[in-house]
Amino acid sequence: MSYVIGVDIGTSGTKALVITAEGELVGQATVEYPLHHPQPGWAEQDAEDWWRATCQAIQKARQAAGIKAEEVKGVGLSGQMHGSVLIDREGKVVRPPILWCDTRTTEACRYIEEKVGVTQLLQATGNPALEGFTAPKLVWLAQNEPESLEKAATVFLPKDYINYRLTGEIVTEMSDAAGSLLFNVAAGDWAEDVVDKLGLPSYILPPVKHSWEAIGEITPAAAAATGLLPGIPVAGGGADNACGAVGAGVVEPGQALSSIGSSGVILAPLASPAVSPDGKLHLFNHAAPDRWYLMGVMLAAGLSYQWFRRELGHLEVQQAEAGGRSPYQLMDKAAASVPAGAGGVIFLPYLNGERTPHADANARGVFFGISSAHRRAHLIRAVMEGITYGLRDSVVLMREAGQAIKSLRAIGGGAKSPLWLQMQADIMQAVVEVPRIDEGPAFGAGLLAAVAAGIYKDITEAVKATVKIRTSYEPDAGLAAIYDRTYEIYRDLYPALRPLFARARTAVAGVGQ
Ligand code: XUL
Repeated sequence: MSYVIGVDIGTSGTKALVITAEGELVGQATVEYPLHHPQPGWAEQDAEDWWRATCQAIQKARQAAGIKAEEVKGVGLSGQMHGSVLIDREGKVVRPPILWCDTRTTEACRYIEEKVGVTQLLQATGNPALEGFTAPKLVWLAQNEPESLEKAATVFLPKDYINYRLTGEIVTEMSDAAGSLLFNVAAGDWAEDVVDKLGLPSYILPPVKHSWEAIGEITPAAAAATGLLPGIPVAGGGADNACGAVGAGVVEPGQALSSIGSSGVILAPLASPAVSPDGKLHLFNHAAPDRWYLMGVMLAAGLSYQWFRRELGHLEVQQAEAGGRSPYQLMDKAAASVPAGAGGVIFLPYLNGERTPHADANARGVFFGISSAHRRAHLIRAVMEGITYGLRDSVVLMREAGQAIKSLRAIGGGAKSPLWLQMQADIMQAVVEVPRIDEGPAFGAGLLAAVAAGIYKDITEAVKATVKIRTSYEPDAGLAAIYDRTYEIYRDLYPALRPLFARARTAVAGVGQ
């Protein structure tokens, strides 16, 4: 039999899937690692954790599938976007990668706007300067840690680094290069004028390949570490959201994706690179030929729900341990025990600041409207609803940009809960479809591997052969009307609180966490 392995280098862990040529999932494994916050608003990871987790997840997934190494015909990777992985001439990582959800770079963003010009930046890269993107991190390093930038021979993305460890090849591909703010999304090449204006060394930018092409082969050293055979082709791979969309079959204009992973994402494919009004939505290259997409990104969607479990969900965690279940199933059950609208409690999911629609590093999480009659179940439901209102904000921007968004395909942790799926349909007022395999980016990365290995001629053929819809959720008119009212309040809360968020940040600056 022929199998491919799809791997996603996520924020909370790395997931590996073993997939048959027909797109059946036969084995999977996830290996978790920590997210470090050396200072408030900072987010870093250890690139060695990604490598260790990749090796272990590939081995465990293959064991779970019960297949031989020679049956694996290709490997494809997806990964968290925007992380700045700097390696030196020997291939050693220069400093811990700064991640997509790090917000230390607000001043660097203003510097980029001043040097390049707001309109020129939007024209050249399709995007405005936002904290999480790669270029502001390089500017921050140039200004605060020049020795790191001086040591760097290459800057590339998290999955590119793992591709390098697997194959020895130093390359990136378009869907991840697009999130660097140094890439001309329309032309499909580095935006050299932007790189020059920022005074960044252009030699650190690697060659750009296609997501579906084989960029190299598993080296003997990588074979020893992963249990794969040397010589297996490795695909260029892609950004996690692009791969999530491929894996859900969202590659054609008119379709849309909703993903609740650590981040929250609404993504809509385009047949040409059209910037959204004021660049409010990201414009990136898709992992499919001649496709781009618009995307809205929340910095703490699943992360908010995970935070609640960690800090306030001890009861569910204990009960889950005793009953051999997931704490999230118990949290869902609690949320389902209170009505839509969570009794008027509204949660703003801005734990790490926010990107879409409020590019504001100062924003923070809020529980609004709590009375002594409310129970923890109301808070749990409010967190789920607040995350989904945040997604609706992106759907509203998409509709303003001319995308109808009549239906969305849901992936990620949020697609595991029937309650949350129905809530998505009701709040976003669109049909929510769940792909048979809702594992997200790793599945799309596996499809890229299948194309790179020659199992399928192209992405379109791979998607047609493998992606099926398992079930769908229609919006409920009664619940949609309730959510319309609560969403209005949600939408008014941020502008009312914005000045207070800024004051709160300065009030405790220097006091420590
Ligand atoms: C996309 C983004 C996030 C990360 C999460 O712009 O920042 O969705 O890719 O892994």
